Amino acid sequence: MASRLLATLSLSRAAGARAYSSGVTKCTLIPGDGIGPEISAAVQKIFASADVPIEWESVDVTPVRGPDGKFGIPQEAIDSVNRNKIGLKGPLMTPVGKGHRSLNLALRKEFSLYANVRPCRSIEGYKTLYDNVDVVTIRENTEGEYSGIEHEIVDGVVQSIKLITEDASKRVAEFAFEYTRAVGRSKVTAVHKANIMRMSDGLFLRCCRDMAEKYPDVKFEEKYLDTVCLNMVQDPSKYDVLVMPNLYGDIMSDMCAGLVGGLGLTPSGNIGLNGALFESVHGTAPDIAGKDLANPTALLLSAVMMLRHMKLNSHADKIEKACFDTIKEGKYLTGDLGGKAKCSEFTNEIIKKVQSH
Ligand code: NAI
Repeated sequence: MASRLLATLSLSRAAGARAYSSGVTKCTLIPGDGIGPEISAAVQKIFASADVPIEWESVDVTPVRGPDGKFGIPQEAIDSVNRNKIGLKGPLMTPVGKGHRSLNLALRKEFSLYANVRPCRSIEGYKTLYDNVDVVTIRENTEGEYSGIEHEIVDGVVQSIKLITEDASKRVAEFAFEYTRAVGRSKVTAVHKANIMRMSDGLFLRCCRDMAEKYPDVKFEEKYLDTVCLNMVQDPSKYDVLVMPNLYGDIMSDMCAGLVGGLGLTPSGNIGLNGALFESVHGTAPDIAGKDLANPTALLLSAVMMLRHMKLNSHADKIEKACFDTIKEGKYLTGDLGGKAKCSEFTNEIIKKVQSH
């Protein structure tokens, strides 16, 4: 297991090295549905203005029927991510209760995207309840309650299995400590309910404890999920990097996003065994799709995370600063941020700033 994880970590280093050595790196782009194509186009324009040395390979992930009659991700899209090992993804529409399964889940499974990383930092100029939020949630992304193992025992009684494995818990714990060290943070908090789910969360917690021993330079603490929720809304500065099983991470990461202004501003990365996929965490916003009203910030900041993953730090810093400065000035804010600007106007202002830096 450890060697597989090290291979993943060196994979990200290799991606960065490739970007440096060959000049231009190909990145898969999944524009997505609803507002996806608009905000993807905004990111592409901003990247072009900053001369980012990447070439986009745009793929469609609209499900196609396979030989087994089931709908799934088209092979071309799978091949593209497998080839490029890095990608950016817009939101995808998930039909409720019918049709194909969630494509987001399918992508996570297909590429073993085992760690979901979401940095949540207060943005200057966009006032929220707290001014000093700076936490990162790291969510185990492949199992737990989202393993997809559900069945009906008898009429009216269904069972859903929460699957926790040592392998998946160890690799996400190791990722959390590696990440904390790599970005110069200082503390990892393991979030759990091992007092109730003694075996499953107990195993997850044990893996975190074992990993903590290998990282004596990183502080480690363990906290109950309910305690973290309570503390987080009272004083978010108590926490630094949080690592937790899938369901808790899903909820906690949205809660943290709420503390800094919502999903329209929150980036995320999914780090995997076969590559890394960066994505905005909001949905397809069908109510404003096609109207040039969407806020591209979350996808843009996800793309900035992708650049840092590729070690293209100076491009990342320049674009991030232009985006934050635009928000701070407050002249061209989209509707979700209380402004009247269109997506294209907000985008053009960022480009202006990128080019004047
Ligand atoms: P949503 O996030 O699409 O929309 C909720 C509200 O936030 C809407 O009022 C929308 O206009 C606004 N909003 C979202 N992103 C925005 C942006 N970038 N700029 C400005 N306003 C924005 O959530 P909803 O309506 O629950 O889901 C719609 C569809 O998106 C569903 O099919 C759902 O399955 C899918 N979805 C996909 C996700 C993904 O691919 N990661 C995540 C969440 C939902």
